[in-house]
Amino acid sequence: MSAIHYKIKCIQLRIQREVGKNKAIVAVSGGIDSSVCAVLSAKAISKQLFPVFIRTGFTLDKEENQLLKLFNKFGINVKILSKEKEYFKKLKNIEDPNKRRYQFGKLSLELLKAYARDVGVNVLINGVNKNDKFVLNTSISYKKRAQDTKRVLGLKLVEPIAELYKNEIRGISKKIGLGEIAFKQHIPGPALAIRISGKITKEKLALLKQVNQLVDSRINNNYWQFFPFLLNEKLDNKFIVVLRAVVSKDGGLTAEVKYDPKLLNKIAKEILKSYTKVGRVLFDISPKPPITIEFM
Ligand code: XMP
Repeated sequence: MSAIHYKIKCIQLRIQREVGKNKAIVAVSGGIDSSVCAVLSAKAISKQLFPVFIRTGFTLDKEENQLLKLFNKFGINVKILSKEKEYFKKLKNIEDPNKRRYQFGKLSLELLKAYARDVGVNVLINGVNKNDKFVLNTSISYKKRAQDTKRVLGLKLVEPIAELYKNEIRGISKKIGLGEIAFKQHIPGPALAIRISGKITKEKLALLKQVNQLVDSRINNNYWQFFPFLLNEKLDNKFIVVLRAVVSKDGGLTAEVKYDPKLLNKIAKEILKSYTKVGRVLFDISPKPPITIEFM
């Protein structure tokens, strides 16, 4: 048995052992980790699994479409909870990034708890990975998040990929046929909710989504992350977009800026031409450490 098959087998056995005869929910976001968890859980415990996607309004439409296409291919039924209004209302006036992150996580847990109650489930399969444990510079350390999850949910937590690094999970995702999703860059849990400074308005969110979509369509897979961030400050009454492009082994301790002037020039020109509300495109040259990958 190859190393990767062995890892896949171990994950499935762990899910079977820890879920036992119970039913479990798994929240899918469109990212690699939760998709791997959901697909392997479906293989491991089939009818005992209840996958759920919470529509937060802070991801791109294409993420949702990709996800639904994938699950359709695997014959996995995903329950969609449309909660965009709830997330927007809760987050729009929170300018402090830590509070925003916290409230995003709390609302997600509350919604999952309500869904678990509805379907009579007492186990949550959670796609946390080893990289998440290294997100040291944010206020939400792995431990605190895990404690919060247990406290808020009151559900048994099963974390089948917690000992694996992102590159290992990416390898598994390719092996099990996750297609486009296997090549996606990491999207933080709160997604675009932590890529807008100041208050979140519908205008800012819609603009960031459009710019993000354009950036995504112009880049290749040679980056750990390449994304736009929308500043609160304006110049000549126009928005300022900052692009961040980094390479990293696992996002945890170090990340180097990857500077491709030709590509950046092309993307900046396209952004300015397509979105007249944007007046400037900047490029962030700060390495990690001392600066984090995300802006807030
Ligand atoms: P930082 O910004 O601390 O991020 O250098 C390191 C890696 O972690 C991701 N990240 C998050 N992922 N929820 C997540 O699921 C979060 O709140 C979060 N904050 C940062 C970040 O995108 C990077 O890959």
